[in-house]
Amino acid sequence: MNFIAQMEPWFGDEEKNAINEYMEAGGWITEFKKTAAFEKMIAEYTNAKECIVVNNGTISLTLAALAIGLQSGDEILVPNYTMIATANSAKMIGATPVFVDVERETLCMDIKKAEKAITSKTKALTLVTANGRYPKSGIESFIELANKYNLVLLEDSAQSLGSFYPNGKHQGTVGKIGSFSFSAPKVISTGQGGALVTNDEAMAFKIRKLKDFGRSGGGNDIHDSIGYNFKFTELQACIGIEQMKKLPWRVDRKKEIMRLYKELLKDVKQITFFEQDLERTSPWFVDVFADDRDDLMRFLKDSGVGTRVMYPPINHQLAYQVPGEHEVSNLVGKKGLWLPSSSQLSNEQIQFVCKKIKAFFK
Ligand SMILES: Cc1ncc(COP(=O)(O)O)c(C=O)c1O
Repeated sequence: MNFIAQMEPWFGDEEKNAINEYMEAGGWITEFKKTAAFEKMIAEYTNAKECIVVNNGTISLTLAALAIGLQSGDEILVPNYTMIATANSAKMIGATPVFVDVERETLCMDIKKAEKAITSKTKALTLVTANGRYPKSGIESFIELANKYNLVLLEDSAQSLGSFYPNGKHQGTVGKIGSFSFSAPKVISTGQGGALVTNDEAMAFKIRKLKDFGRSGGGNDIHDSIGYNFKFTELQACIGIEQMKKLPWRVDRKKEIMRLYKELLKDVKQITFFEQDLERTSPWFVDVFADDRDDLMRFLKDSGVGTRVMYPPINHQLAYQVPGEHEVSNLVGKKGLWLPSSSQLSNEQIQFVCKKIKAFFK
């Protein structure tokens, strides 16, 4: 069997043909009608009023922070277990990310710890829907917390396209602004790319201006506010449109993959899964706690199976070095492991991976 990568993006003839057709028609490549069509598909899929696509899922978070008026000196609560971009996107505009530990069962922010971390400087809170999961405490508890302390609720749903809350709403659509990423390993990819969704039209207008130099109108050079250039391209939109058509299949396949791993590894007590509602949510990666993680990884690599260490606790990263011990994110740092998770994995490949994991623990 060929080496099984932890993750591989998946593009086909559809994406290739869409780009060829676009190039033959002679467009300007910079964002225009294809981008608008891609935005419309995301808005319809998530049932958000507005969608704005940008160059990546870090800048989308920075734009969200700018749009809600987060400033230097303000604090924003972020989980201590997340991709570091959640924190860095706030840092980029001089705000201070305050790290909050996550729930053991879901790896989403722990609401009790979040409440304790609020100070007079806290202006916002970013809920990361880790691997498509929602917090065990419920999304409503985060809405209530934000209302109680007058905080803006943002959702970093970079890993959650295709995942819904129990109330039927798509993740990313209950807070003020939700953010998605289309980087290479995501459920759908445009190479790089990000999207913001919101139900607040005034906010959407502000974001569109922020990403286009603060222009007062399309294509002119009259600026009534400060803005930047975080635009998308039509080539990415051509790919994104084709990827969106494949999304329903991918969502189903990701769920099947997780179910199969759970079934095959149910007797391996050294591997523990998180609580994932597979009716409503679609895992982006297969994530587990593994005993002897580093030895297991080496063994799997030698057996032709790629895995990846999950995000270490951010407060202990050299880039931050914020004192404090956060029990669950520390545990992820020691035991968190991503198993092969590409949607194109065959059942046979998954069986092979699980056979090797069992062989290691024997
Ligand atoms: C939770 C989370 N936030 C933000 C990002 C950043 O997205 P991008 O790589 O598109 O900048 C990622 C990407 O891995 C992510 O997983």
